[in-house]
Amino acid sequence: MLWNVWLLGFLSLVACVEETAIAGQDLRMRGLKQWPLGLAASLSIDVSSAFNAPADVPTWCGKPYMSSNHSLDLGGQFQFPTPQQNPLLYVTVQPRYSIFLDNDGSGSFIVDAAISHTFGQAYKNASYDTPGKNTSNAFTTLDFEIYNEDNGELLVSNSVPINSTGNLFNFTFSSFPPRFQPYQISIYGTSPDGQQTYSGTSQIYVLPARTYGSAVKIDNLYGGLYVQNANNSYTGWYSIFPNGGYADGSYVLPSNISYTPLETYVQQGFNTINVVPDGGAPEQSYDTEQLATYWDLMDELNLFNLYDMRFAFQNSTRISDQVALWQNRSTLLMWYTADEPDGWAYALNSTKLAYDQLKELDPYHPVSLVLNCQDFYYKEYASGGDVIFEDAYPVAINATWSIPWGTPCNTTYGDCGCDNCLGELADVSTRLDDLETYQENLGPGTIGRKPGWAVLQAFGEQDYWKSIPSVQEVENMMMLAVNHGAKGLTYWIYPSTDEVNVGSGEFGKVFQTETVKEFLFGTDVIKGLAVEGEALCLDIGRQMLVGVASGQYVDSEATVSVQLPVAVSGIEQVLYGDSSWAVDNGKLTKSGMKGLEVSVLVLDVSA
Ligand SMILES: *[C@@H]1O[C@H](CO)[C@@H](O)[C@H](O)[C@H]1NC(C)=O
Ligand SMILES: *[C@@H]1O[C@H](CO)[C@@H](O)[C@H](O)[C@H]1NC(C)=O
Ligand SMILES: *[C@@H]1O[C@H](CO)[C@@H](O)[C@H](O)[C@H]1NC(C)=O
Ligand SMILES: *[C@@H]1O[C@H](CO)[C@@H](O)[C@H](O)[C@H]1NC(C)=O
Ligand SMILES: *[C@@H]1O[C@H](CO)[C@@H](O)[C@H](O)[C@H]1NC(C)=O
Ligand SMILES: *[C@@H]1O[C@H](CO)[C@@H](O)[C@H](O)[C@H]1NC(C)=O
Ligand SMILES: *[C@@H]1O[C@H](CO)[C@@H](O)[C@H](O)[C@H]1NC(C)=O
Ligand SMILES: *[C@@H]1O[C@H](CO)[C@@H](O)[C@H](O)[C@H]1NC(C)=O
Ligand SMILES: *[C@@H]1O[C@H](CO)[C@@H](O)[C@H](O)[C@H]1NC(C)=O
Ligand SMILES: *[C@@H]1O[C@H](CO)[C@@H](O)[C@H](O)[C@H]1NC(C)=O
Ligand SMILES: *[C@@H]1O[C@H](CO)[C@@H](O)[C@H](O)[C@H]1NC(C)=O
Ligand SMILES: *[C@@H]1O[C@H](CO)[C@@H](O)[C@H](O)[C@H]1NC(C)=O
Repeated sequence: MLWNVWLLGFLSLVACVEETAIAGQDLRMRGLKQWPLGLAASLSIDVSSAFNAPADVPTWCGKPYMSSNHSLDLGGQFQFPTPQQNPLLYVTVQPRYSIFLDNDGSGSFIVDAAISHTFGQAYKNASYDTPGKNTSNAFTTLDFEIYNEDNGELLVSNSVPINSTGNLFNFTFSSFPPRFQPYQISIYGTSPDGQQTYSGTSQIYVLPARTYGSAVKIDNLYGGLYVQNANNSYTGWYSIFPNGGYADGSYVLPSNISYTPLETYVQQGFNTINVVPDGGAPEQSYDTEQLATYWDLMDELNLFNLYDMRFAFQNSTRISDQVALWQNRSTLLMWYTADEPDGWAYALNSTKLAYDQLKELDPYHPVSLVLNCQDFYYKEYASGGDVIFEDAYPVAINATWSIPWGTPCNTTYGDCGCDNCLGELADVSTRLDDLETYQENLGPGTIGRKPGWAVLQAFGEQDYWKSIPSVQEVENMMMLAVNHGAKGLTYWIYPSTDEVNVGSGEFGKVFQTETVKEFLFGTDVIKGLAVEGEALCLDIGRQMLVGVASGQYVDSEATVSVQLPVAVSGIEQVLYGDSSWAVDNGKLTKSGMKGLEVSVLVLDVSA
C-alpha cells in the first residue's frame, strides 16, 4: 500500500503508555518515566487462573516474553460466528444516542433489518396474500412495533425495507419519566402475512435534565460525541472531535501551581486531556486540592478531561470516592478506567464491574478504556467501555525481534512493543479495523459499533521504541486513524517534541471544524476506494471529504490519481496540506507527493 486516501463522506448526498522494562524484573511498567521504582515494583502482575500461562510465567497480551519461558497457546482469541448458508434477518433497535435528557423533548430509535448469514432469525423471501392460497409475494418490507417493556406502552409502529440499516424513528418521552436507571425496550417485527417473526431488545436512558456538571452522549449511528455543559448554558448539545494527549501531570499541572503549561496546551489546539495519575499518592490518584485548582482552569478554558482511574478502577471504594469528587465538573468528558487490561491480564470481569458501578453512580458520562493487544479477550475487556481506544505503537520498533528481551515475537510468544504488528504506520489503522470487526461480530444484546479512538505514539528512545516519531509520522498516523473511523485522537505522551506538540495540535484543529465534523459525525466512511493505496471518502451529497495519507517515506514525482466513487467537479477547500491538488476528468490528481504527506480536502461532486 503506497498511500492512504479515504473519502470521508458526501455532504448532502451522499496512553499512552511508555513502557519501561526494568532490568531483571519480570514485569512491564507502563506509565510515566518518573515513576518511583519502588511503586512500580509493587505492581507486579497477578497471573490469574483464567489465563493459560502458569503462575511463574510473566506474559504480555497472554504471551510469555522472557527467554527463559516457552511459547504457549494463549487462548482468548476472538471467536467469529460461523456463517450459515441460508439468509437470516437480523432485526435490531437501538436508541440513537447513549443517553437522552428529558428536556431534549423527544428521542429517536435506530432500526436495522439486515440480511445476515451470522445473526438473526430465519428469513424466507415470501409473504402470502391470502391464508391457504399458494400465491406469495416477495417479503421486502418488515412491519414492526417498538415497546417500552417497563410499562408495555407502544412507542413506534412502522415498517422498514428488508436489508436496510440506520432507519430513524422518533418517539416522545411521555412513557419515560426521567430517571437514573435505563428502560428496557423491545422491537417485534413480522412479515406482512404475519408468518415470520423477529425480535430484539435494547435499553435507553432518559435522564433528568442538567443544570450543573456536564452530560456527554454518543451517537450510536455515526459514533460522534456530543456535550451539554456550562459552556452552552445547558441548552442543547454541541459536537466535539476530541484531540488531546495523555499528559504528564508534573509538567502540565506542576505542584507549585502555574497555569502557563495548560494554557499553552490549549493554545496549541488541544481540546481534551487525560492527566496520567503518577502513582505517587497513597491512593495512586491525584492530589485533590491541586487537581481542583487546575480543574477550575479547565472549566474556564472548556478543556475536557478524561478522568483517569487506571489505578482505582479495580477497587469499588476508590471508584465511588473519585466519582463523588469530580462528577459535577463542567468539563468532565468521560471516565477512563482500564489502561491496557489485556496486556496486564487483569481479571476478565474487571472492566465490566467498574463499568456497571460507574453507570449506577453517573449515567451522564461515557466510560472509556484502551486495549493494547491485537486479539486477546476483546469481548470481555471491551464490555467495560462505551468507547474503545487502541494503542498500537509501531514507530522504530523491531516487530519480529524483542529488543529488551532478546526473543523472537510472533502470535504466541514475545513482546516487541506492538502486539502482532508489522512495524508500519498502518498498524494503527489495521488495529482500528480489527477492533471494529470484533465488535460487529459480537451479535445480539451488544452494541453493533462502539466508537474507536486511537492513542498515537508520540514517545520513543526507550526499550522497544528506538526513536520518537517525527511530526510527519504522527500526522500520518492521525490521518490513517481518522480514515479508519477514529472518532477521537490522543497521544502518549504530552509533552512530546516541540514539533509533535505543535503539529498534532494544528492538524487536530482541522477535525474540530464544523465543516469536517459534518462529515465525520454525519456520514459513514466509504471504504475500498480504487487507488494505489488508500483514501478516505465521506459523502454528504453535493460534497465529499477526502483524507489522504501517503504511505511512502520518500518524496515521489509520480502523479497521484484518486478514483472516487463519483465524479467530482472541483476542489471546494483544502483544509490541510499542500494546495496543489487538482480535479482532472472527474478524478482527484496531484503531481508528486512528499514522503508521508497528508491532505484533507472538500470536493464538489458533479451534478
Ligand atoms: C519462566 O521464567 C521465569 C524467569 O526466568 C522462571 O522463574 C520460571 O521458572 C519460568 N517458568 C517456566 C514454566 O519455564
Ligand atoms: C406451491 O408453490 C410451490 C412453489 O411455487 C410449488 O412448488 C408447489 O407445488 C405449490 N403447491 C401447491 C399445492 O400448489
Ligand atoms: C426478495 O425477492 C424480490 C423479488 O424477487 C427481490 O427483488 C428482492 O431483492 C429479494 N430480497 C431479498 C433480501 O432476497
Ligand atoms: C444486503 O445489503 C448488503 C449491504 O448493502 C449487500 O451487500 C447485500 O448484497 C444485500 N443482500 C441482499 C440479499 O440483498
Ligand atoms: C424527528 O425529530 C427530529 C428532531 O426533533 C426532527 O428534525 C424530525 O423532523 C423528526 N422526524 C419526523 C419524521 O418526525
Ligand atoms: C465555549 O463557548 C464560547 C462562547 O459561546 C465559544 O466561543 C467556544 O467556542 C466554546 N468552547 C468550546 C470548546 O466549545
Ligand atoms: C514551578 O517550578 C518549576 C520547576 O521547578 C519552575 O520552572 C517554575 O518557574 C515554577 N513556577 C512558579 C510559578 O513558581
Ligand atoms: C480499596 O481502596 C480503599 C480506599 O483506598 C482501601 O481502603 C482498600 O484497602 C482497597 N481495597 C483493596 C482490596 O485494595
Ligand atoms: C454533585 O451533585 C450531586 C447532586 O446534586 C450532589 O449530591 C453532590 O454533593 C455534588 N458533589 C459535589 C462534589 O459537588
Ligand atoms: C471477578 O473475577 C475474579 C477473578 O476471576 C473472581 O475472583 C471474582 O470473584 C469475580 N468477581 C465477580 C463479582 O464476579
Ligand atoms: C530485527 O532484529 C533482527 C535480529 O536482531 C534483525 O535481524 C532484523 O534486521 C531486525 N529488523 C529490523 C527491522 O530492525
Ligand atoms: C513463536 O516463536 C516461538 C519461539 O521461537 C516458537 O516456539 C513458536 O512455535 C512460534 N509460534 C508460532 C505460532 O510460530
